[in-house]
Amino acid sequence: MNKQRSFKIVFATLITVSLALTSMWRAWADDEMDDGEDQFILALGGRAYDNWMGLLDQHTLKMRNLDRRKFLSNHPAYPKEGRKRGLTTWRCKECHGWDYKGVDGAYGSGSHYTGIKGVRAYENKDPSQIINIIRDERHGYSEKMIDDETAQALALFIAKGQVDMDRYIDRASKKFIGTAANGTSYYMTICAMCHGVKGFAINFKTADHPEYLGTVANKNPWEAFHKIRNGHPGKEMVSMRAVDVQVQVDILAYTQGLPVKK
Ligand code: HEC
Ligand code: HEC
Repeated sequence: MNKQRSFKIVFATLITVSLALTSMWRAWADDEMDDGEDQFILALGGRAYDNWMGLLDQHTLKMRNLDRRKFLSNHPAYPKEGRKRGLTTWRCKECHGWDYKGVDGAYGSGSHYTGIKGVRAYENKDPSQIINIIRDERHGYSEKMIDDETAQALALFIAKGQVDMDRYIDRASKKFIGTAANGTSYYMTICAMCHGVKGFAINFKTADHPEYLGTVANKNPWEAFHKIRNGHPGKEMVSMRAVDVQVQVDILAYTQGLPVKK
């Protein structure tokens, strides 16, 4: 083999290897979207989906001249036959569901029925398209209601932060498809610090009609799943996005074994 030929081979090999490395780096960088610092944004977007107004403190509400009383009337897109009234009809989850499946999911019947489809089709879509939807005439969310930063987080949540809940919750039995025993130590070292060992330390509703962690996990597993992935708007509730989805599900399977009432 002459010198020139072997130089060519070495050169070609170097190019091939560096191209392969570049594409591996790209794939890795793409995956990084779902990791690390972006998890903060995804969880914020999830809380906005839950209740964007709950993210705003009294001061901000005042500065933006947003008054709860302005939301006494229903969101214009809320159907007349729907049974909810006022502020709650402005929450994304009220029309599109805790399971992101709207009429094809848990809100396909019952008191939250609207007949509106979910947002699953927008998973992996370009977030800027989703921002346009939030700002479109039908949705009508102004920057005073949902500022640009929150709208971006919300769009990113829909594009990259939702899950297909039917893979993790059996719809008929409402049971999490997970191993409660794998969730115990997470529950005892994280959740129990605030919710208590039996889940009684925080009552989500009233003294007369109490709702505890065990109550919610069994009554509305889709809501519980959304909450542990994203936290609770305006409250010191953690987001468990740092651990694998299956671990989140195992923790929730454990919470379904907690007592539903005192
Ligand atoms: C009052 C009801 C209502 C609320 C609240 C609501 N939407 Fe919608 N949304 C709709 C309707 C109606 C459509 C159109 C559905 C159709 O085309 O059948 C829609 C469509 C969408 C779509 C496109 C779905 C698709 O597959 O075409 C996205 C994404 C979306 N909404 C996101 C949001 C976000 C984010 C929020 C909260 C900031 C929100 N929506 C709040 C009623 C609502
Ligand atoms: C730092 C305290 C804290 C920790 C840790 C914590 N939570 Fe929470 N959690 C809260 C608070 C505060 C709320 C909101 C209560 C309210 O005002 O409704 C909440 C709300 C919830 C809700 C929503 C209930 C509802 O109906 O609105 C669920 C579900 C939940 N937590 C589950 C968990 C699980 C599971 C863990 C462990 C992975 C956990 N939490 C860890 C403080 C905490």
